[in-house]
Amino acid sequence: MASQRLALLDAVCAAPKAELHVHIEGTLEPELAFALARRNGVTLRWRSSAELRAAYAFDSLQSFLDLYYAGCDVLRTEQDFFDLAWAYFQRAASDRVVRAEVFFDPQSHTARGVGFDVFMPGLLRAVARAQQQLGLSAAYILCLLRHLSEDDGIATLQAAQPWAQHFIGLGLDSSERGNPPEKFARLYAQARAQGLRLVAHAGEEGPAAYVRDALDLLGAERIDHGVHAADDPALVRRLAGQGIALTVCPLSNVKLCVFPDMAAHNLPALLHAGVKVMVNSDDPAYFGGYVNANYQALLAAHPELDSADAYRLLRNSLEASFAPAGRIAAWVGKLDAHWRAQGLDAG
Ligand code: ADE
Ligand code: ZN
Repeated sequence: MASQRLALLDAVCAAPKAELHVHIEGTLEPELAFALARRNGVTLRWRSSAELRAAYAFDSLQSFLDLYYAGCDVLRTEQDFFDLAWAYFQRAASDRVVRAEVFFDPQSHTARGVGFDVFMPGLLRAVARAQQQLGLSAAYILCLLRHLSEDDGIATLQAAQPWAQHFIGLGLDSSERGNPPEKFARLYAQARAQGLRLVAHAGEEGPAAYVRDALDLLGAERIDHGVHAADDPALVRRLAGQGIALTVCPLSNVKLCVFPDMAAHNLPALLHAGVKVMVNSDDPAYFGGYVNANYQALLAAHPELDSADAYRLLRNSLEASFAPAGRIAAWVGKLDAHWRAQGLDAG
């Protein structure tokens, strides 16, 4: 039995998958943070990468965000953003990610005087190398900070216009409570008019109503986290019925105390209610692992998830991506072949 479970974990790790919820700034490993600090003459509050890693004990989303924004200060040059993104793509490819849709937070950089002309070339150079050298398809989602004003978000979307063809969508992140979706209705209407795909963090710390409002007031096509939707059974039925994806991040939710431990995580319940959930890493440098570590932690704590469930999570990740339909079909075909080759049940 135990060996069957290990075989399933191995099969999941080796399966083609998409990662749809990862913040590029959240992939900044302490070692790289120190290397960039040295390169840029920035003094960090911690004496070593080990001391910085030891500071990663959070009791809420805000306690994490304070450290996450402080970490951004070492990112100063085009090369820094390239190094950051290229390191992530290499890790993602080794987790057999075939498609990554990656958030970046422009306001965390423009507020420090680091502009689009600095970070976009570095981020895009890394995408091109990921495609060429790793066969990994990647795209960026411009993510706006909800603790700032809607006007700041609109101005940032405006500043991004010269780079508009290089990102596929718009997202909303940062401190959720007290910054409801309705605050950003005009911004999302503008982004929709520009043809951007729309996503929003909602229902991470905030209530189920924020998930509903992200759908109804912002037109979000996919919800990031969304785990508090489970508090509203009618909303869960709607998500399942409309095939709306929730990009769930198990290790993040435990690290930020959304759930007391992995065994209490509600992803299995959402999956079994028919909601299109999948597994993502959010801010892997801070939360203890990349996407495969998230699958492993989830499956280890939830023996009720069987091989058909694991297949469904992997397939959901591919189907919920914003890649062209033909690419998605090809990846699903590869997943099916892999699952068959392992002799596993796909449900
Ligand atoms: N920014 C980076 N990670 C985030 C998260 N988990 N929630 C909200 N904003 C974020
Ligand atoms: Zn996130």
